[in-house]
Amino acid sequence: KPYVVIMAGGIGSRFWPYSRNNRPKQFLDILGTGRSLLQMTYDRFLSMTDSDRFLVVTNKHYFDLVREQLPDIPVSNILKEPQRRDTANCIAYASYKISEKDPHAKVIVTPADHLILNESKFILNIETSLNSCEQHDRLITIGIQPNRPETGYGYIQYFVDDSKAAKKVKTFTEKPNLKLAKTFLESGDFVWNSGMFVWKVESIIKAFEKYMPEVAEVFEEGVGYYNTDQEHEFIIKAYSQVKNISIDFGIMEKSEEVYVILGDFGWSDLGSWMGLYEIQDKDVEENVVEANALLYDTKNCYVKVSSNKLVVIQGLENYLVTESENVLLICKLDAEKKFREFVIDAKAKG
Ligand code: GDD
Ligand code: MG
Repeated sequence: KPYVVIMAGGIGSRFWPYSRNNRPKQFLDILGTGRSLLQMTYDRFLSMTDSDRFLVVTNKHYFDLVREQLPDIPVSNILKEPQRRDTANCIAYASYKISEKDPHAKVIVTPADHLILNESKFILNIETSLNSCEQHDRLITIGIQPNRPETGYGYIQYFVDDSKAAKKVKTFTEKPNLKLAKTFLESGDFVWNSGMFVWKVESIIKAFEKYMPEVAEVFEEGVGYYNTDQEHEFIIKAYSQVKNISIDFGIMEKSEEVYVILGDFGWSDLGSWMGLYEIQDKDVEENVVEANALLYDTKNCYVKVSSNKLVVIQGLENYLVTESENVLLICKLDAEKKFREFVIDAKAKG
């Protein structure tokens, strides 16, 4: 049975003010289902493996939240990071830890903040991915048909003629600029990287050794400490030595062993307000309204206000209007790139 590594250490600043430092979006019940995004991620993989094969990698500050939300996974499977060092290091930590127990393990790596509509199709897809990495040192990505020149995603160009389920990847470009994203979209042989990966643990460790030797060296030193009392102490040291870098920049853009399996299971990255807007039911003017609101001449807006204040809006297009605790936010729905700034400046204002 495979291991499932859930990456749950992001702060979700693009969901501010809804997500806060003390409770990032993966811990929120954003869809109103009664389960947080993290719990939904766990539920989705539960039919494929046992609860003691889940590893959740998160910041030390969120350890208790994870324990509370996923009481069925062993406490030692919650991996505490002393700082955020982005996904390459998060994956390296989990991989070396798994490898020490089970050097031939198959691993599924997944973000904690995605929505998947068709779970049975999704499971078939993951099973195909698991089969296809069995005999080879492949790094399998799951590709999603793009529908807009989104610059927040990775773009995967693949050999379109390859008739196999796992198609060889030609190029992987993480977060291209808008001009490039438009070219990719038009060319038709690119898909989005869903951010989920499937591989054997030995394959990803080989990739770390080859493409990120400085990271491999640091985590290799922990062999003998993983799964012992000294693990966390070692990790504090290791994390002080590595740089912030994502798996996409560190390995996926460089490796020649990358394959893609196309996914058609209704995927959305709930990484931003735009992502959440897109999957919701809209009114005739393409507005999503979760508020006590009156809208005039207003189109393509997302209004989410949970207080019982009456919200009256006129003449807005493509805007987000939202409120959470002490913040009222009105900004362009696609202002994603500005959120880091909002969060920092808001903190300074107190
Ligand atoms: N443990 C841990 N530590 N988790 C982290 C860290 C970290 O330092 N940084 C990010 N994560 C988690 C986030 O919580 C999220 O679940 C996942 O890793 C991905 O990180 P994001 O920050 O959301 O990445 P992204 O959305 O910008 O880009 C990635 O996902 C896109 C699809 O959603 C890339 O893989 C893109 O190529 C991809 O298209
Ligand atoms: Mg994301």
